[in-house]
Amino acid sequence: MAATQATDQEYPGDWPGRLWLDGRTPVQVGDFAGQAEAGRGPISKADIPVFHNPAMTGSRTRSVLLLDQCLRENWVTKPGATMRVLDGLAASAVRSRRWLGEIPSEQAARLRVTAIDADATALAWARANHQTHPPCSSGDDEEGDYVDDIDEDFPEHQQGLRFLQGDLRAKVLESGWQWVDLDPFGPPTPFLDTVLQGLARVAVVDITATDTAALCGAAADSARRRYGAMAVVDDLSHDTAMRVLLGHVASVAARHDRAIEPLMAIFDDHHVRVSIIARKSKQEASSFAENIGWRIHNPSADEVAIGVARGLHPAGESDEPQLSVLIPWDAAPGGSFTGRLSGPLWTGPLGKPEVYAAMTAERAVELCALEGERDADLLKRLEIPDSTIRDSQRLATKAVRGLAEVAEVIDCPCTYPVDMVASMYSDITGPPSPTTLAEKLREKGWRAAKDFIAVPAVRTNAPWDVVITTVREIAPTR
Ligand SMILES: C[S@@+](CC[C@H](N)C(=O)[O-])C[C@H]1O[C@@H](n2cnc3c(N)ncnc32)[C@H](O)[C@@H]1O
Repeated sequence: MAATQATDQEYPGDWPGRLWLDGRTPVQVGDFAGQAEAGRGPISKADIPVFHNPAMTGSRTRSVLLLDQCLRENWVTKPGATMRVLDGLAASAVRSRRWLGEIPSEQAARLRVTAIDADATALAWARANHQTHPPCSSGDDEEGDYVDDIDEDFPEHQQGLRFLQGDLRAKVLESGWQWVDLDPFGPPTPFLDTVLQGLARVAVVDITATDTAALCGAAADSARRRYGAMAVVDDLSHDTAMRVLLGHVASVAARHDRAIEPLMAIFDDHHVRVSIIARKSKQEASSFAENIGWRIHNPSADEVAIGVARGLHPAGESDEPQLSVLIPWDAAPGGSFTGRLSGPLWTGPLGKPEVYAAMTAERAVELCALEGERDADLLKRLEIPDSTIRDSQRLATKAVRGLAEVAEVIDCPCTYPVDMVASMYSDITGPPSPTTLAEKLREKGWRAAKDFIAVPAVRTNAPWDVVITTVREIAPTR
């Protein structure tokens, strides 16, 4: 593929670097290993001029799909209104440029995106990329010219995007943002307090955390210091990590009279991402603790009964040991919990069924993968080989794998990692297939799906006695 020179502006000294297609958006990045190779990240962020992580392509694909859905369904704006979007820690601004170039033009034309970064060199690369590869593929009008929708309220935006250098924590308060993307190195905690004060009355906040060891409980000191939480390390860690982050975001939001509703949570390889909608409401914010609680691992029958009584655990007819139970904040029983307690954490749904249901491979490919006819000019200009087209389709599909399937059960508090289930009983000699277990549970009339957490698991509303009976029907037993 051919990297391109920027034209009439000052561009970074290392330009043009290497060309990478993130989704179907060209981005020129530093000429270093790990900057333009699928699935690999940079070896050291200190050595590269602008941080770019190709391994986060899937996260950016999901972000394109989520923002597209937000615009189409008018979650935070009136129909047709412009939307103030902040790419808070933008680096090369590839995320901003993907929103503007990959969301269909009718909706993308409503975006007024501000990309902030503290690093002047990163912004130089971002500007050069925006100028060299403007978001014309989606924004063409009938004559083929980009519809540059500059209006009086946003005079600094060029083709939907402006750049601001500085500390996000200072800049975020200048406007009522309707969408904020927070994609830090490590934990998002240093930014949450100010970001949650810089929002419009209704806003989406999309938050990445790469400190998964803290959220999963493996780095206990960091978990306590950053999130005021503890977590047990077992196969439920990924579910726990999403809930710890959501619980923390909910409590910071409540301090600023905002209630949150999760749209989507995901644990993807080395990061957790939670997308929430925040609404200004003292009353709703005051009751945020209704969705905050604890996970007790290896619970007693009495502890399970607390979860059942408060609607956080399916009622069943078994007194047999269970994996875990979610219980409310105010019901934490006394006694020693060493190694048995995770939290505080979010006990409500991890997201909205309609958001997960919209994360389909068809939509991901349609918006975010290259397509010969539509992208003909781009393919020709950058001499993009057919193999890159196929790669973009494969990566778009991979970005949403398993998400639509879980839509029906995302409100269920219980997920059952099959290895853990099998290891609880001596007569079960191996784990069942999660796909078969989910199918069998559905045949029995329960909601069930193979879960999207990184270990094989089934999320279901079936009670434990049904789960374990079904496991015994299909797993190897002695
Ligand atoms: C992980 S990178 C962002 C990656 C980018 N969102 C993407 O999708 O490629 C984090 C960025 O945050 C910037 N940064 C760190 N602290 C900042 C602060 N306090 N204010 C603004 N930018 C900051 C860094 O310069 C870096 O470019």
